[in-house]
Amino acid sequence: MKSIFITRQIPENGIKILKEKGYDVTVGKYKTPPTQPELIEELKKKNYDVVVPLLTDKIDSAVFDAVPTVKIFANYSVGFDNIDLEEATKRNIAVTNTPGDYVDGVAEHAVALLLAIMARLAEADQFVRAGKYQGWDPMLFMGDKLNGKTVAVIGTGRIGERFARKLSSGFGVKIIYYDVVRNERIEKECGAQFVSSVNEALALADAVSIHVPLLPTTHHLINKNNLAKMKPTAYLINTSRGPVVDEEALVKALQNGRIRGAGLDVFEFEPKLTKGLVKLSNTVLSPHIASSQLESREEMAEIVANNIIDFFEGRVPRNKVNK
Ligand code: DGY
Repeated sequence: MKSIFITRQIPENGIKILKEKGYDVTVGKYKTPPTQPELIEELKKKNYDVVVPLLTDKIDSAVFDAVPTVKIFANYSVGFDNIDLEEATKRNIAVTNTPGDYVDGVAEHAVALLLAIMARLAEADQFVRAGKYQGWDPMLFMGDKLNGKTVAVIGTGRIGERFARKLSSGFGVKIIYYDVVRNERIEKECGAQFVSSVNEALALADAVSIHVPLLPTTHHLINKNNLAKMKPTAYLINTSRGPVVDEEALVKALQNGRIRGAGLDVFEFEPKLTKGLVKLSNTVLSPHIASSQLESREEMAEIVANNIIDFFEGRVPRNKVNK
C-alpha cells in the first residue's frame, strides 16, 4: 500500500479521495510549521512514498537524503519556491503544485487589500473600536477612490490576469502591466498597456500589484531604487511572495511618505515582520490568507490528490512543475 505523509492538516476532501484509492495517509500533528529537523525526524519513521509539503516546509537535499523512498512531493500550494526543484529533477523526483481555479480568490484578496488601503479601512476600523468617533466630520479619514486610477500589474500569469480583469471591468481602472512575456488577452480584453520594465510600471502607476513567483530573478524585484520611482501618492499591494519586496526598503518608504500605503498578505521573513512595519498606519496586513476560502483550500486538496493518483496510475501528474 502506498503511504503518504501530509505535513499538516489540509481539508479532509483531498484526504478522503486518497483513502478511497486505498492509500495510507498520515497527517502531521503540528499546529505551527515544523522545523526541517523536526520534519526529517518525522519522515524517517516510515518508508513513505509521497510527501505533501506546505509552503512553509523547506524541501531540499537534506530531506531528499533522509527519505529516499519518496518519489513525489505534491506541494499544497501554487508557489513551489520552498522546494529545490533542480535537485529534485536531478534525483528524478516529481514535484507538483496546485494551480486551480481558486486563483480568483487570490485576485479578489488583492483587490480587497487595494480597496482597504485606499479607503483607510483598517485605520478607520481601529478608530471606531477605540471609541474615538465623535460624530461625522467631512475631514475624517479622507482616502482615495480607485475609479479612474492607473494600476500596474507586475506579472500577468493566471492570478495577475484575473486581478487585471476584475479591476478593468468592475472599477473603471486603466491597467498597465509588465511581464517577461506579453499577455495579448488582457491587452485585447482589458485594454491593458504593456510597459517595458518594472521601473516604468512603478513610475506611471497610482497602485502596483505584484503577481510574480519567487525566483532568483524576482528576489527584491521591488527595492529601494525602484520604490523611489513611485508616485508619492501610490500604493503597493503584494499577495505573491514576501521576498519579492525588500521589506526594509518598503518600511522606510512608508515611514518617509515616499509612497502612500501598502497592502501586504506576504512578508519577507514571515511569520516575522520587519521592524517598524506593525507601527505603520498606512498599511493593511493579512497573514498569507489570500487563498484562504473554503472552496479554494478544498480545491487545492483535490488537486494534490489528483496529482498523486496520476503519479501512481502511471500518468505524468497534471501539475508537475519539474522535468
Ligand atoms: C500558494 O498557493 O502559493 C499560496 O501562497 C498559498 O495558498
